Amino acid sequence: MYLTKEEEQILNGEAGETLQKALEILVALGDIYGAEGLIPIKSAQIAGVSYKTIGDAGLEWISDLKGKVKVPAILNPAGMDLENWERIRIERTFAEKQKEIVRAYEKLGIRCECTCTPYTLKNFSVKSGDHLAWSESSAVAYANSVLGARTNREGGPSALSAALLGKTANYGFHLEENRIPTISVSVECSLKTSDYGALGYAAGKAIGSQVPIFYLNEKKERKKGKEKSKEEAATACPNQDELKALGAAMAASGAVALYHVAGLTPEAKKRKFEPPAEKLVIERSQLDEVYASLCEDSEPDLIALGCPHCSPAELKKTAELLKDKSVSKELWVFTSREIAKFYPEYINCIEKSGAKVICDTCMVVSPASNHYSCVMVNSGKAFAYVPGMCGAKAVFGSLEACVQNATGEKKKGEDFN
Ligand code: F3S
Repeated sequence: MYLTKEEEQILNGEAGETLQKALEILVALGDIYGAEGLIPIKSAQIAGVSYKTIGDAGLEWISDLKGKVKVPAILNPAGMDLENWERIRIERTFAEKQKEIVRAYEKLGIRCECTCTPYTLKNFSVKSGDHLAWSESSAVAYANSVLGARTNREGGPSALSAALLGKTANYGFHLEENRIPTISVSVECSLKTSDYGALGYAAGKAIGSQVPIFYLNEKKERKKGKEKSKEEAATACPNQDELKALGAAMAASGAVALYHVAGLTPEAKKRKFEPPAEKLVIERSQLDEVYASLCEDSEPDLIALGCPHCSPAELKKTAELLKDKSVSKELWVFTSREIAKFYPEYINCIEKSGAKVICDTCMVVSPASNHYSCVMVNSGKAFAYVPGMCGAKAVFGSLEACVQNATGEKKKGEDFN
């Protein structure tokens, strides 16, 4: 891998041990993946924040680092709401360790707003073509696919190293040739909002780490040979929250870091990709299978929304569904602290029902979910991760079904679609 004179000096330890170690990590990755050199990045998003996932070894590693990041950098969700951790039964010893981790990151100049949707924050803008070093898989999929930026799926240490150096190794999705679709996904049913999580979950399993291009409602339209109805046109044009859900689920059930939607996402709009030879067809029955998951011998005892963190529109919808209702079981709604601050009317309406709006964390990276045996989610990503990360069963349902289950209007065995 080619290094400039200055980079050579850093590697020789002339700029201190922290930068030397950081560059060693980037060079090791660059060598493995055949990078020719380093490229400057615009921002970093750093995973490896929850004490649940990094433990004492991670805390020690971060605490030993010195200096400041060279580009805007932000944290992924931590293991608890940093201000209201007692509300979800976090133990004091965990809370103290978690705060130490966040302080250690803060000392390095990193913004400690812990969110997996940094692209929604003010003063953290991303432009098409920007090179980034982001590490949370749903944020990576969104940045690459919906924003047209360029990032590999960094690990926590490599994203942090990139932030400290302001550069990353130039390989993978930073290179044009690796962004071309390798598998086409033909979706042969119309889609409503919650279907995008189910679609991502089903498709991700088959796609693995390939780059898919989606053709929505393709066959249906061809067969009919007539104008799309208004409803069909809407389902064929997912909004940003639906794309967020699709990418997050594919990144979890598979390892997708970049996808295209024909005629919609930035790169697929700019150029007409040749349909790849490998094809995957998704039909309604495959999505129905995702909705059909049930906790065999129990009702969900926790309903968790906001994976990835809720946008203002998702909070608004949740607030509308909960208006003048009371929940009869735990309903947690995860979002970023900034969004919660700017939309108090939605937060108040949601919390009036007895549900809790929780910031800085999520149902997967917080140990709080470990107190429950069956978690109902409207996220394909949470559906994939809850069993392994929280030791609980997971049930997938639409936002409406999740709220209805929490208020007692809809029970197990009823349609969660
Ligand atoms: Fe975000 Fe946690 Fe889901 S980090 S994408 S809410 S698993």
